Amino acid sequence: MCGIFAYKGPKTNASELVIKGLKKLEYRGYDSWGVASKCDGEVSIYKEIGKISDFDFDNPPPECDLKRECSLAMGHSRWATHGGVTVENAHPHYSTDKSIAIVHNGIIENYIELRNELKEKGYKFESETDTEVIAQLIQEYKKDNDIVESVKKAIERLEGRYAILVMCADEDKLIAARRGSPLIVGKGEDEFFVASDIPAFLEYTRNVMYLDDDQMVVINDKVEFFDIKSGDKIDKRVVEIDWDVESAEKGDFPHFMIKEISEQKDTIARAINQDDEMIMKIAEEIKSAYGTYIIGCGTAGKVALAGSYLFSKVAERHVNTTFGSEFPSMQNFITDKSLVIAISQSGETADTMEALEIAKKKGAKVLSIINVEGSSMDRISDYSIYIKAGPEKAVASTKATTAQMAILTLLAYACADKLDEGKILLVDTASKINDMLNPRYEEHILKLAKQIKDHESMYVIGKGMNYPMALEAAIKLQEVSYIHAEGFAGGELKHGPIALIHDGVPCIALVSNDETKHEIISNAIEVGSRGGYIIGVSPDNHEVFDYWIKVPDGGNASPIINIIPVQLLAYQLALLRENNPDMPRNLAKSVTVK
Ligand code: G6P
Repeated sequence: MCGIFAYKGPKTNASELVIKGLKKLEYRGYDSWGVASKCDGEVSIYKEIGKISDFDFDNPPPECDLKRECSLAMGHSRWATHGGVTVENAHPHYSTDKSIAIVHNGIIENYIELRNELKEKGYKFESETDTEVIAQLIQEYKKDNDIVESVKKAIERLEGRYAILVMCADEDKLIAARRGSPLIVGKGEDEFFVASDIPAFLEYTRNVMYLDDDQMVVINDKVEFFDIKSGDKIDKRVVEIDWDVESAEKGDFPHFMIKEISEQKDTIARAINQDDEMIMKIAEEIKSAYGTYIIGCGTAGKVALAGSYLFSKVAERHVNTTFGSEFPSMQNFITDKSLVIAISQSGETADTMEALEIAKKKGAKVLSIINVEGSSMDRISDYSIYIKAGPEKAVASTKATTAQMAILTLLAYACADKLDEGKILLVDTASKINDMLNPRYEEHILKLAKQIKDHESMYVIGKGMNYPMALEAAIKLQEVSYIHAEGFAGGELKHGPIALIHDGVPCIALVSNDETKHEIISNAIEVGSRGGYIIGVSPDNHEVFDYWIKVPDGGNASPIINIIPVQLLAYQLALLRENNPDMPRNLAKSVTVK
């Protein structure tokens, strides 16, 4: 949520590099953007509302000064929290005397009291944001301190979560600090990058240094890390990332979403290529824990729920699930014998992260099933399993979802002492997905999308392991098509939702060849009898289906397969309704605020 990018080095086109970097981070926020650059002893700021991808660096508006030569610049692509989408509220923000500029990702909870205090001292505020107080505080402390000390003192006053970058007019330094929101330093040859996410600077360097909570970094011609509280210097390890540049680019695909859907031909196989000993060790932790909780937010929350069905069915084991944001209300059940499993693509989602912090405080063990190595969740966890999906950039999660499902399936089989059986099932699933994803298949789904694109509402039903996937299918449709979509447990329809069905309303039924098949078909018949248009996602056709999307029979891995045609349908609907599937309105990829 909110993209941050900065450059400090010998190149003189720092602003251009920042614009390029921000364009790669646009999935984190895209309502407005801005760049601060240091030229001739001045920090100048240029801001616009709208998407940075629409900005043409070679043909900028006349008032834009970003073409001036400079070697230090930082920028921000915003997902609004405090204050509407206006140029004034876009970052960077100046201090009153314009000597300090700041960009910020996160929320400063005590900004109102700080603002009142600073106003009394004569500071002038130009935005409605919580961020501006940070620049003003730094200006205030700089009266008696150097810039590094002033940033430290300002940070000590902040309550909340933040990743901030600071530049000042009279020093050639870039200062960054974090608590709760991601910030990574990329180390090139004599040059440094700071960004919210690695793909932004992957084309320049794969050598990264992670900033941890309550740490700051000062970059001039070298880089130095400090502990904010003690002031002690920290030796940082440089970690080499193995993502390749292409994996973070669209290539020949029109959108990241379709690229990432297509990559599921390979990602399941990659996800399950894990160290067996580690999987068995984690299975032992699950078996010996006095209560296992799987948590996640958004799509990852649906995967967590799917996990509880998988563990029940495959391993006859009870695990609890809840959303990251609801976990604080469950914390009374957590002890030092509990195990908390976080599911997250980014490893940064604030609600999930807070849940892990609570679990750690209670002495519970923590496992993260994540895509991003070195992320906050990775570093707080006792164990991490990387799903190896490669960078996922479309806001709507697809390949990370199925890779997370594959890992949970593997763990469930490992808990049942049948790891090899699980692996065989998933290898088979990967090859079935490979066969399924072909142009003819996509054409068949496009035909359906054309038929239903103008509907106002859609429903998805599933039973057993397909129930969480019905919820996930509905999220996919909501996120990118903006059609009102809801997922239900098939059996619950008759207790309320069936009142919503009328002539022609599309209802997707996720049907697997398992013990739930007959009941979910009966539910589909109930919807069909009330005029619903039944779309069956199923290995076999049935007379109740008005439209049949054939899927391979995946046994206990069926939910992984069944979600894929709905991902494709959501994508096609987004295009037909002229929405940008990669950047849905009001959403952001990595939600680092609560
Ligand atoms: C946002 C994204 C979703 C994602 C959720 C959790 O809402 O739009 O696609 O499922 O965050 O993100 P995480 O990185 O924790 O999986």
